[in-house]
Amino acid sequence: MARRRQLYEGKAKILFEGPEPGTLVQYFKDDATAFNAQKKGTITGKGVLNNRISEFLMIKLAEINVPTHFIRRLNMREQLIKEVEIIPIEVVVRNIAAGSIAQRLGIPEGTRLPRSIVEYYYKNDQLNDPMVAEEHITAFGWATPQDMDDIIHLTLRINDFLTGLFLGVGITLVDFKIEFGRLYENEDMRIVLADEISPDNCRLWDAKTNEKMDKDRFRRDLGKIEEAYQEVARRLGILPEAGARDMKGPETMQ
Ligand code: TMP
Ligand code: ASP
Repeated sequence: MARRRQLYEGKAKILFEGPEPGTLVQYFKDDATAFNAQKKGTITGKGVLNNRISEFLMIKLAEINVPTHFIRRLNMREQLIKEVEIIPIEVVVRNIAAGSIAQRLGIPEGTRLPRSIVEYYYKNDQLNDPMVAEEHITAFGWATPQDMDDIIHLTLRINDFLTGLFLGVGITLVDFKIEFGRLYENEDMRIVLADEISPDNCRLWDAKTNEKMDKDRFRRDLGKIEEAYQEVARRLGILPEAGARDMKGPETMQ
């Protein structure tokens, strides 16, 4: 079989040309980076788990009418997606203080925020993804005010939905990062959820013990990284090794 043309290689994923125009193949690697790639490593099996977890979450979001780039999973490490024009903004939602907000504003990690806070970062590795305001985004034309309306509205719905979904399996959604793209269909343009949603770009804490179940285990050298990602997949009911019924629904925790 002819090798697909590689279009882009990022820190955790590779994008290949898709089988039809307007599609791409998104390949999930085991590579992990942190602190703008100053720290590098491999988390064995991460790509397989993130492919599954992101598929599961995008399908669930599509069921509540959040448009996404996801079409279908192709195999253990690849999924077919719609080609979109990525908006160069990382949208971060925080429910509980952790990571950079805890450091920057001196809020003890674990403090529930008065309300969910949405932040924007300009996707630019050379500049170390600086935080920006909506003013910068619209003034520099990275997104229009109409795009931002759609992005904020979708982001808050995604946060509400995922918070409930994770809580149902005994996981607190502390914060997460998402990205959006412009999907051009005929004459229309729609903003859709793109990239991935996985323990690489969420903070997920066990609801009872607050144990970290996400990439902070890698960032902070806490060990048991693979186990944590697997446990997230297991609780969502999507661990491939779970047996013959490898696509059962979420399992509810008491
Ligand atoms: P932060 O506390 O380091 O700003 O991270 C907030 C959330 O965004 C956290 O869930 C991790 C995620 N994130 C990414 O996905 N990519 C990044 O480059 C950074 C800095 C954070
Ligand atoms: N993935 C990002 C990087 O390597 C940062 C992070 O997730 O902490 O730069």
